[in-house]
Amino acid sequence: MKDQINRLLEDINSFNADTLDKVEAFRINYLGSKGVLKQLFAEFKNVEASQKKEIGQALNNLRNTATEKVNTIKSALEGSKKEAKVYGDLTRPAESIELGSRHPISIVKNQIIDVFSRIGFTVSEGPEIEDDWHNFTALNLPEYHPARDMQDTFFIEKDPDILLRTHTSSVQVRYMEKNDPPIRTISPGRVFRNEDISARAHCIFHQVEGLYIDTNVSFADLKQTLLYFTKEMFGKSKIRLRPSYFPFTEPSAEVDIYWGLETEIDYKITKGTGWLEIMGCGMVDPNVLKNVNIDPEKYSGYAFGMGIERIAMLLYQIPDIRMFYENDVRFLEQFKSVI
Ligand code: DAH
Repeated sequence: MKDQINRLLEDINSFNADTLDKVEAFRINYLGSKGVLKQLFAEFKNVEASQKKEIGQALNNLRNTATEKVNTIKSALEGSKKEAKVYGDLTRPAESIELGSRHPISIVKNQIIDVFSRIGFTVSEGPEIEDDWHNFTALNLPEYHPARDMQDTFFIEKDPDILLRTHTSSVQVRYMEKNDPPIRTISPGRVFRNEDISARAHCIFHQVEGLYIDTNVSFADLKQTLLYFTKEMFGKSKIRLRPSYFPFTEPSAEVDIYWGLETEIDYKITKGTGWLEIMGCGMVDPNVLKNVNIDPEKYSGYAFGMGIERIAMLLYQIPDIRMFYENDVRFLEQFKSVI
């Protein structure tokens, strides 16, 4: 009987189970009402009196070991079951974290800022709600000036007029009022025009204004700066300046870059000419300088203004301006790889 007890003890010690069912089967087998231990205790009465003490202890030890085994495995399995409820499967691979992306308008705006800051331009900003002076009058657009009609304005109040700025040129006025030359600044920002929304135009869009005021600034300086910008921004080094009219610059010009005619898209966006208009510019009109108390006899300067959407559409071949404002993730996530 002693040998049998020792063998059983070994079996019990080496037992392990990964499910509660298996532990229960083990319990029934050893400790159940018809189990192994029950039988052994029944046989115990036949044991010789001289061995009763030793065998009795061994039997008790066997029962205790089996009971302990059942309890420890059971509580371990129940514990991990509870954990699984709280954490799920801890060995499962983690879900990847979705990275956001910058909006294409921000990407292009930051690129423009970067290009100009490398040649000493600072960044300045102004309010989106403007008064008549900063948006029109100081920019050489007095009341009843026909050029006011070029920019369909959203008015907030009349007499005195408070409006949503129609261009970022208002920021150059504010900047010149507060700072003395030399001035080198660019002003990115949102502008508003009462226009019908289409694939090409929107009532809200973004511009970057540039302003350079110093002694002896000439049109040649303007041209060189524009050439530098188009090379850095588009990798294109051929530009042309077409005479134009803006009330705040004299002379004024529109800047075209030679885009080329290599692909079908090039033909489409340049209407078969190879040339693309990207901004307006000119030498700051002496009247504007006078309006902000800068002496036009001593100082001269140039200014330029461009639409950020237009440049982003060219760089990324975006066919419809409305895509910028719809916040469709399928559109936005395409800019993930761009910083
Ligand atoms: N403000 C003009 C517009 O919104 C753009 C512009 C043209 C700005 C010529 C300038 C400039 O500073 O010199 O259409």
